[in-house]
Amino acid sequence: MATRGKIYHCINSQQFDRPLIEKLCRLADQIRKIADTKEGMDFLESTLHHKRAMLYFVQPSTRTFLSFYSACQILGIKCAEVRDPKTSSEVKGESEEDTVRIFSSYFDLIIMRHFKANFTVTIAEMLDGTDRPVPVINAGSGKDQHPTQALLDIYTLKRSFKDRGGIDGKRIAFVGDLWRGRTVRSLAQLLTKYQGIKQYFVAPTEFQISADLQAYLNEAGVSYELTDDLKRIIPLVDAIYMTRLQSEWDEVDGTCCQLDLDKYSIGRRQLALLKPDAIIMHPLPRKTELAREIDADPRAIYWKQVRNGMWIRAALIAMIFQQESAILSYT
Ligand code: NCD
Repeated sequence: MATRGKIYHCINSQQFDRPLIEKLCRLADQIRKIADTKEGMDFLESTLHHKRAMLYFVQPSTRTFLSFYSACQILGIKCAEVRDPKTSSEVKGESEEDTVRIFSSYFDLIIMRHFKANFTVTIAEMLDGTDRPVPVINAGSGKDQHPTQALLDIYTLKRSFKDRGGIDGKRIAFVGDLWRGRTVRSLAQLLTKYQGIKQYFVAPTEFQISADLQAYLNEAGVSYELTDDLKRIIPLVDAIYMTRLQSEWDEVDGTCCQLDLDKYSIGRRQLALLKPDAIIMHPLPRKTELAREIDADPRAIYWKQVRNGMWIRAALIAMIFQQESAILSYT
């Protein structure tokens, strides 16, 4: 699935090289600029109005679902959705693979969120072997990957640090349930494409990043530290990536650990320790790890992060359908 400047399926964050990430960010900037006027929107909507997308989201989602839905609308793509497998022929005993293969008969793009890790790759490989292959985008799979969240996070970091030398050389802390948070895995992997980054993983041992992610970071020669001391880390970093406790996995895994939210949350007290030009991110939804009292602080950029997601997803879809030059040359 390596990209070498191009993209077809979007499966995991490891497949993106830096030139492709840069291209996507440039395209997202251009799309949001064009979308500012009615003429611009008319143009964008004409680029892919001959395409249809299936949003197959069988795991709960509001923001990612609507983000993709809006991204498709911006490009004129017509959308249909299946969100509850109980309404599909899966209840008659059909395999999920067959269900998705049916989608490829009607649609030109499949965007999917699924509770199984690696399911998107299985589907992409299966479709590649059929006479009607269509691109597949992973909108979150199990505990392992959420590549488009990582892209929107990178796009957000890039915009936030554009007057401070970009992402290279920055210190970034991940906080919370790092063990089960797929956004953390995908972003930590994508950040290895940047130079001189230091990553801090702040969580108690039972919520720390998995051994395979540590092995990936070691292999990439990345500098990182595992710690449980948020207070010590806050003043050191340029960005803090907060995450919620992923308790929905407790039932599946038979685990029921609790995260001490006094130690792993950010409120006014912790904000006072943060550098004046640092930023606070969160993939959302939040629980109580981010106090509402900090929402109005200019360093809290999670609402901007959400909107950035819509633009970068539009850029990704435009690139999958080779609309990059048409959009970049629009004046
Ligand atoms: C994340 C996810 O689904 O992994 N949400 C999202 O897509 N913005 C994070 C989460 O659910 O905690």
